[in-house]
Amino acid sequence: MKKCLLLGNGGREAVLAEQISKGYTLYAIMPYPNPSIVEYVQQSHGTYLLGDPFDKELVKKFVQEQGIEACVVSQDNLLQEGLIDLAKELGLQTFGPTAKGAKIEWSKTYALEIVEKIAPEMVIQNRAIASQEELEQAIAQYKDDSFVVKPEGLTGGKGVKVGGIHFHGKEEGYQYAKQCLQEAGRVIIQDKVEGREFTVMAFTDGEHIVVTPTTFDYPYRFEQDKGPGTGGMGCLSFENGRLPFLEQSDIDKCAAVILDTIHELNRESLEFSGVIYGGFFKCKDGIKFIEFNARFGDPEAINVLNALETPFTEILEQIHTKTLSPETCKFKKNYTFTVYVVSPNYAIKSSKEPCEFTLNTKAILEKGAKIYFASTKQIEGDQYVSVGNSRLFAIHASGKTLEEARQTVYQAMENTMDEKLSYRKDIGEMYEH
Ligand code: GLY
Repeated sequence: MKKCLLLGNGGREAVLAEQISKGYTLYAIMPYPNPSIVEYVQQSHGTYLLGDPFDKELVKKFVQEQGIEACVVSQDNLLQEGLIDLAKELGLQTFGPTAKGAKIEWSKTYALEIVEKIAPEMVIQNRAIASQEELEQAIAQYKDDSFVVKPEGLTGGKGVKVGGIHFHGKEEGYQYAKQCLQEAGRVIIQDKVEGREFTVMAFTDGEHIVVTPTTFDYPYRFEQDKGPGTGGMGCLSFENGRLPFLEQSDIDKCAAVILDTIHELNRESLEFSGVIYGGFFKCKDGIKFIEFNARFGDPEAINVLNALETPFTEILEQIHTKTLSPETCKFKKNYTFTVYVVSPNYAIKSSKEPCEFTLNTKAILEKGAKIYFASTKQIEGDQYVSVGNSRLFAIHASGKTLEEARQTVYQAMENTMDEKLSYRKDIGEMYEH
């Protein structure tokens, strides 16, 4: 069996580990033992190393010692730091863009420049700001806080702030934009538009794409979409791969922009393969582009990879041989549903205090749901502890209806969640009939 290295340690990597371990022997380098990744490494008779996945010498040594043949990276900062470039230099089969290809995510101005060329009608009126003077002029154009501030650089999905939601009043928006400008030397000010956000991800071998089921993410920390933005508190997808407010023609438009973008990025050499994430808005006057990410979304990866009918490792082979096509990459006709569980302080205040909690994994699995650990390590038995300030673990289920998938998740969470833990109880509610 092919030996495949996975770098990264979130819930997204937990589901990637599950999928890779079904067809390859899984190897991992991670800073702490993520219980899901450890389990899948062991199931596939691989090996993991506790260490820094950014340490290129360490990665190189591990690859050579273990005879690793393939590498999967889907964590934004590892991509930006060129871990796929390193894997390519070592002759590995790769899934993920080079650092140059990943620029599509960490430079919002670069992404906008590309989409302006390819599909100008999808671009929301914006200004790329590089000086204090330009910033003052841009903000002066607005009567109120109907604008969006988009920082340059990686922000883990949490940097974009919308007027009237994340900041209130022009002055607060201006101060945030000024801070972004000082930190990165550039910031984008964009008109605020009304619409519904959705995500279209696509596998790509660098020439072709296969669109995955469209997902709907719940980025806000609290129920009724209140509180600060997060990496995502829950996510769902529908059996037909569409969301109820979308037409197939909407998704086709997004797919066309994604494909043209891949061709633009790969014009000179193969900078981009793996998966691309497109964030879009459905507005009264059509589909608008929000952003690209050079990786799977998290939790979106949990939904989409659980919807796969074709084994993920077959997709990795198709990407390697550049034979990816919708005929050979299939999805099940299922609804998928994921809820993230976090510590009470998550996205509210940074706390150095680890959050210790109990989790009866057996009871959750017996109720038909799956668990994907993220920033958590096991102490012993049912005792776990948080690592850092990120999301702790995700509970996932698929079903023949949305209600079935939703109930499986929430029923599995009944009486199994430590009182200390926090999660949204309204995921999927807006889609109830
Ligand atoms: N859930 C949003 C992201 O991964 O960027």
